[in-house]
Amino acid sequence: MTAADPLPNSDSQRHSILIFGASGDLTSRKLMPALFTLWSEGFLPDDSPIFGVARREKSDEKFRHEMRIAVSKHGRLGEIPDDQWQKFAQRLFYHSLDIDTVDGYCDLHARVEASEAQFFGTGIAASRVVYLATAPQLFLPAVQNLCESGFKPAHDEPHRLRVVVEKPFGRDLSSAQELSSGLGRLLAESQIYRIDHYLGKETVQNILLFRFGNAIFEPLLNRHHVDHVQITMSEAQGIESGRGGYYDQSGALRDVLQNHVLQLLCLVAMEPPAVFLGDQIRDEKVKVLESLRPGSMNINEWAIGGQYVGGTVQGAAVNGYRQEDRVAPDSRRETFVGMEVFVDNWRWAHVPFYLRTGKRLPERVTEIAIQFKLPPLHPFSTVECDGDICGLVGSRPNSLVFRIQPEESITLSCSVKRPGHQYDLEPQRLKYQYPHGLAEAYERLLLDVLRGDSTLFTRSDELEAAWRFVQPVLDHWESAAYQPEFYQVGTWGPQAVNSLLSRSGREWRKP
Ligand code: BG6
Repeated sequence: MTAADPLPNSDSQRHSILIFGASGDLTSRKLMPALFTLWSEGFLPDDSPIFGVARREKSDEKFRHEMRIAVSKHGRLGEIPDDQWQKFAQRLFYHSLDIDTVDGYCDLHARVEASEAQFFGTGIAASRVVYLATAPQLFLPAVQNLCESGFKPAHDEPHRLRVVVEKPFGRDLSSAQELSSGLGRLLAESQIYRIDHYLGKETVQNILLFRFGNAIFEPLLNRHHVDHVQITMSEAQGIESGRGGYYDQSGALRDVLQNHVLQLLCLVAMEPPAVFLGDQIRDEKVKVLESLRPGSMNINEWAIGGQYVGGTVQGAAVNGYRQEDRVAPDSRRETFVGMEVFVDNWRWAHVPFYLRTGKRLPERVTEIAIQFKLPPLHPFSTVECDGDICGLVGSRPNSLVFRIQPEESITLSCSVKRPGHQYDLEPQRLKYQYPHGLAEAYERLLLDVLRGDSTLFTRSDELEAAWRFVQPVLDHWESAAYQPEFYQVGTWGPQAVNSLLSRSGREWRKP
């Protein structure tokens, strides 16, 4: 991970950016706002052409107009002054293309070359960054067609073509391996940037910096001191309109747990890398993924699937999953996953990691909570208050909580003496709260692609190790006999998920 310096405008930093799938939601909600912010803050040179590519016919003017609306609505810089937008928009172009047929790619290539000559002058070899924000079945044909039509760089200059691949990268182990080997025949690993947008979040990156930048915490993060770890990624929203078709083929395990949640687990569990560089960091993450072990021999006892059913949330009626747009009325797809897993290595042996993610839970929260063991003796009590009623209870375990969203913070919970003429303990928090207005994940990730730094992207072996771990659960849940347990909208998931912890006397935190 490198420092966020503005890009120098040297020849080696000349880029053309091509977004395939430019009519899609991701382009207007995330990619274009991120590019605009990067440019406004001096991270994107003034002269990088940006091409939106999609099937639909559209003029450059219309594309620019649509993007202005999108950036004003979704960007984090608010209203855009006219002259600023005009300056940015002069490098925005639109090219209509049927992505899965090779015809048309030569025209695209000619157009990209012409605009590079216009912006950079002749004789400058720019790098092309192609962002595949398309349906996954187009990933391979798009790269194949690019390579057959002039975009494939010379053997000794692989960085001149970088391809960013959105998730989902496969829908199981074998399809991920197939896609990897298909892309691997066309591109070097260093040219492929597999996005997991969680890795672009400021607070997610901070997990490693906090762990390895302080001397006092790291010695405690192991089986001697940690009782267990809870990773929660909950969403209050259901299935956004238009997404039901994708989600009903995917489910929470593929959509979120296999990638975002397991990445969080890797960052909190991995060993320090020998040097803080992309490949060394990813080597350590792969070791964690390869050490994962299910919490029980019986899948139903360590992996719990749930599906939300309709009800009332804060006085308003909310649909169940099966009533969502483009979802099968008898769907057995899970919208919730809870798991108990172990990281079978010397540091973490016998420490359970509890994972949960789901839609239509009470609130949107992502956090990693490390719960430490209780003090060996309990000479004091803790005063705990619930409303007006306070009572003495045994000491509380310390916890260290990385809150990824919505407010980003790190909190260490400790027991301190309650002021007064007695020996009572009370729980208190030492908290670092991040400032508001942090960079969006896609800003950092796009910037890293331009810099050629793939630290925050997923390597193929990492991805395959994650698929390999969840594959038995996917197989079990695809079987005709399996039915996820229902849970009411606005609750913390199905009842069975509590038993993951309660059988060992633990309980889920209320974030
Ligand atoms: C995406 C999933 O990867 O992450 C979505 O496909 C999910 O289903 C989203 O809603 C959550 O991202 P964030 O950044 O809002 O937590």
